[in-house]
Amino acid sequence: PERRKKKNRAAAAIATADRGREAMGAAVAEWTVAAVLLQVAGLSLFLYGFFPVKPTLPGFSGAESYRAPSCGPVGCGEGPALPPDQLRSLYRELSEVPHVYDRLVLMVIDGLPAEFVLGRGGKPPAREMMESMPYTQSLLAGCRAVGYHAKAAPPTVTMPRLKAMVSGAIGGFLDVALNFNTQAFLDDNILDQLHTIGYKLVMLGDETWIKLFPTLFYRQDGVSSFYVKDTVEVDFNVSRHLESELAAKDWDALILHYLGLDHVGHIGGRQSNLMTPKLKEMDDVIRRIHAAVTSIQDNSHRTLLVVVSDHGMTEVGNHGGSSYEETDSLALFIGHSVESSHCSPYDQKEALQVDLAPTLALLFGIPIPKNNIGVLLPELFNSLADDQKLRTLELNSWQILRLLQKQRPAFCSEDCVDSKDDFGADMLPESTEKKLCRLLSKAFASHRSSLLHRDSNFRSVEAAGLFGAAVDSYSGFLRHAKTTLFACLCNLLDDYFMFFSCRNYLLHI
Ligand SMILES: *[C@@H]1O[C@H](CO)[C@@H](O)[C@H](O)[C@H]1NC(C)=O
Repeated sequence: PERRKKKNRAAAAIATADRGREAMGAAVAEWTVAAVLLQVAGLSLFLYGFFPVKPTLPGFSGAESYRAPSCGPVGCGEGPALPPDQLRSLYRELSEVPHVYDRLVLMVIDGLPAEFVLGRGGKPPAREMMESMPYTQSLLAGCRAVGYHAKAAPPTVTMPRLKAMVSGAIGGFLDVALNFNTQAFLDDNILDQLHTIGYKLVMLGDETWIKLFPTLFYRQDGVSSFYVKDTVEVDFNVSRHLESELAAKDWDALILHYLGLDHVGHIGGRQSNLMTPKLKEMDDVIRRIHAAVTSIQDNSHRTLLVVVSDHGMTEVGNHGGSSYEETDSLALFIGHSVESSHCSPYDQKEALQVDLAPTLALLFGIPIPKNNIGVLLPELFNSLADDQKLRTLELNSWQILRLLQKQRPAFCSEDCVDSKDDFGADMLPESTEKKLCRLLSKAFASHRSSLLHRDSNFRSVEAAGLFGAAVDSYSGFLRHAKTTLFACLCNLLDDYFMFFSCRNYLLHI
């Protein structure tokens, strides 16, 4: 019996242990399920962050951009496709602003910090820098060019920066991942818009352009950006076509993308011995282009030369991040509409890289791309009459409004315009929508009174005052709308690095 008792006790112990193991097994299973679920959740969060959903507008801007936006869901509103020349005259008729230029030369100097050309903090560049670009500096000093520190958004690498310039929009983190494996660019942008009104485009230089626009160019010669150690051939391959292209009459837009200066930076940093000769070489290209386009300047061939950089570089020649040195890119405009009798070329003129898109769209008489968050650069429209200048601001505001209405469905411009509020409750904290509304209705109202006054008493002191007030209120609205849209975009970035560099960028605009 003693033995049996022991056996029973042993059996009971085994049974207990079994039960314990079973319970443990169940617990383990539960944990496994929980862990898998957690992983799935983590992965989706990662994917969501990596491929942020962008509340962007689909399609391309068309004739509707010349009408005030209405509330409610934004329709595509695409009318029948017109042949290029008819579309061109339709846009020009609807816009009520004469197009300022016929031909565009866009010269990209990869990696050139604006500081090299425009100085920093209101001070001109060092003497050595000035002497490296004598022609460009003489244009600035003679008030025949205007230059901006056109802040680039991070990531400061070529492909997303080119997209920002032509579309006025700022893409997500995805662009970094795809920088070395670019795909065709399908969003609304000024190059496709120019193509739609019959422009013939020629591209020479960095083949990133060809990857973005594989079928757009009438003529092209791509240079591979793969040979980072090469600082000579990458630029020689572009300049070898310069003479024949500048003599050719068959293109309307010429894009040149010089990679050499960026490569000089990667090899030896800002202070590299190769920097001064490279700057001289670039200055000489600017001189040759300017000489060629001014020699054939007549009423049907007004050419705008734009010299931009996609990003800057750090002291040691790196880029990608959000430091001042990396985001300080150049936008320099040379053309009849910027010329003036007096100017202060080395005042720190700030802009955003995205401002290039609406500015060029309005200068060339094409619709502003749908997802643009940029604001036109006023110095480029010096040659227009006051009412035409206000019209350009109105068109820019309408386009930004459409985008705002998409991102903030509660926001409706018609309510703003019709509201008879005197907005006296300034002490109360205002919602973003309210504030945008107030700025917008003020802009439209002052625009209206400026136009009324123009008819009765043109050029009076009072008319000038009304015009100034209208410009100020439009600028106020556009500035605030731009910041709002930008903050929206930053919040979409779940990647910490990108989020912080985005917010850091936002603080500086
Ligand atoms: C420059 O052009 C030559 C001849 O067309 C070509 O073989 C070479 O690969 C080009 N260089 C670069 C960097 O693209």
